Amino acid sequence: MIWEIPKRSGQSQFFHKKAVFFLSLLIALYSYSLLWAADCPQPRFTENAPPEIYNMVNPLPPTMENILAGKALYEDKAKPMACKLCHGMKGDGRGGMSMGVHPQPRNFTCEKTINDVPDGQLFWVISIGSPDTGMPAYEELKDEEIWKLILYIRKLAQFKITEFQQGILSNDILGMR
Ligand code: HEC
Repeated sequence: MIWEIPKRSGQSQFFHKKAVFFLSLLIALYSYSLLWAADCPQPRFTENAPPEIYNMVNPLPPTMENILAGKALYEDKAKPMACKLCHGMKGDGRGGMSMGVHPQPRNFTCEKTINDVPDGQLFWVISIGSPDTGMPAYEELKDEEIWKLILYIRKLAQFKITEFQQGILSNDILGMR
């Protein structure tokens, strides 16, 4: 019977080590996700557009066609570079080019921040950029294209992140369900 004791304690030590390992792994993953989580509300120091532009309202209706055109520009077509590179595919401001960028690209998924920013302000920053930040001017975009981008940006705040994760973000969700 005596030989059973060291065996048992040896085994429990093994489980103990395993538990410590998994616990550390969980803590590491959690801290990483906190570090990488997008700020919300996100501090915003962007200069305001002149009043006549600031107060402009998007003239285009949020039809599926317009929103999808905005999505195509956001993800791929906008020149000099697609918005998703900085603002992220999900719009959380964590695109591949956002690392180490200060200030951070706007987090469009954060309703608390973006809902307070009027259409005209978004229009102004997209067309002329935000001086001394990474936000470039999109001088080649037509007004209509910018308004379509804004329709899409507004939609990003309404999407559920899990819908992206599950890969079910489809035209159904983009539609006005
Ligand atoms: C190279 C990185 C980069 C790219 C590409 C980029 N942005 Fe930005 N964007 C930023 C940064 C950084 C900010 C934050 C600027 C600030 O705080 O003033 C920003 C801010 C914004 C804002 C916030 C305006 C406000 O007043 O709060 C809007 C809207 C915006 N970007 C739209 C776009 C759109 C649309 C595109 C693509 C057509 C795009 N951005 C492409 C980096 C980028």
